[in-house]
Amino acid sequence: MKVTIFGTGYVGLVTGACLAEMGNHVVCVDIDAGKVERLKRGEIPIYEPGLEPIVKRNHADGQLDFTTEAAPAVAHGEAIFIAVGTPPDEDGSADLQYVLGVAKTIGRHLDRYAVVVNKSTVPVGTADRVRAAIAAELAERGANVEFDVVSNPEFLKEGDAVEDCLRPDRIIIGSSSARAVAVLRKLYAPFNRNHERTVVMDERSAELTKYAANAMLATKISFMNEIANIAERVGADVELVRQGIGADPRIGYHFIYPGAGYGGSCFPKDVQALERTARGTGYQARLLGAVEAVNHDQKTKLFELIMRHFDGDLRGKTIALWGLAFKPNTDDMREASSRHLMEALWAAGARVQAFDPEAREETRRIYGERADLVLCEHAYEALQDADALAIVTEWKAFRSPDFARIRATLKVQAIFDGRNLYDPVAVEEAGLAYYGIGRGRSL
Ligand code: UGA
Repeated sequence: MKVTIFGTGYVGLVTGACLAEMGNHVVCVDIDAGKVERLKRGEIPIYEPGLEPIVKRNHADGQLDFTTEAAPAVAHGEAIFIAVGTPPDEDGSADLQYVLGVAKTIGRHLDRYAVVVNKSTVPVGTADRVRAAIAAELAERGANVEFDVVSNPEFLKEGDAVEDCLRPDRIIIGSSSARAVAVLRKLYAPFNRNHERTVVMDERSAELTKYAANAMLATKISFMNEIANIAERVGADVELVRQGIGADPRIGYHFIYPGAGYGGSCFPKDVQALERTARGTGYQARLLGAVEAVNHDQKTKLFELIMRHFDGDLRGKTIALWGLAFKPNTDDMREASSRHLMEALWAAGARVQAFDPEAREETRRIYGERADLVLCEHAYEALQDADALAIVTEWKAFRSPDFARIRATLKVQAIFDGRNLYDPVAVEEAGLAYYGIGRGRSL
């Protein structure tokens, strides 16, 4: 099938590459000419395991093209995806200007039936607004062209995006048009083998499904962080509690890891946006507000533990950080807990020596050169003359470090384990003080 995708961010690029991989002819459109040129040369703007080879191969085979030209791209697509960003407005609601801008562009150029697919995470009711924007442009041109708008939210996780896209656990098709549903069923048929993964519903339910999924996951995390905060106060270990509750299949082991708070481009933004949507209807979503508030406080947790250890005075101290990205297997720093920690440390007069396998460049881009930030090439280099070590991202490489070597390198011998990676007893046996999240010993 001929497919057009507007937006070559995480969602657009991964979707385009995976659809090309399944034999479709995909044209990806982006307004950023530099990015389009780099993509044509096979340079991938993001770190995403497995993405580069499929982009390169499909581009070389002519299955995947990149362009800034909207008109021929609209003419190309039988299915036209909108996968541009929906950054939060100042008040937390999703800013739809890019999505609606693409809708207008489609309306300006569409000259035969196409299915317009909303892939971006968009507030409930956006499919109607996209439909209206396209229809208005068509009317202005006096063009009588049929089209459908479908909500088809994406559930890919950064770091696993290609895998999630090639092997989705569900395919949500939000549309009341049988014609559009048939087009998408055909497009997704190769992703839908072995058992039925497609759930067809109306547009609004599909839009809400996306928010509900992210809000549910964020709720699990904030819930566990709350239990961790209780655990540390009552002298319990949240890691044992986690295992104890996870064994119940109704609760499950996934996504109940307490830590330094959730980050990324999705959870913080989507929880806020859903709360705004609810408020817009006159309903106050108290649970969502609490999920957000707990996460906000959790992001200062590591800093508080460090402050307490150093008796409230961090001036002249050097803190080593392992992990900068908002989670492992990405270089994404959006809403990363490391940013809250570093900024608080700097404000308190401390220096930071940080190592992350992938996010060093991105950190440099965000903060520039500064005297109180050293980005190290190796994990142990970050420990040189440092007063303490804080683990912020749970990269595999940090899972079983050489505690004796850490002890030999750190000036002050304390580890602040923001992801509960270590056994406190093993750390303490190596002669290091251990601070974790909710491990009954942090007060
Ligand atoms: C999230 C969802 O998991 C995807 O299903 C969804 O498609 C995506 O948002 C989106 O809306 O596009 P992502 O933002 O890539 O994906 O990140 P996650 O793997 O979900 O992690 C989010 C944050 O939660 C990270 O900061 C992670 O460290 C934290 N987390 C995760 C915890 O603190 N505890 C956990 O148990 C799990």
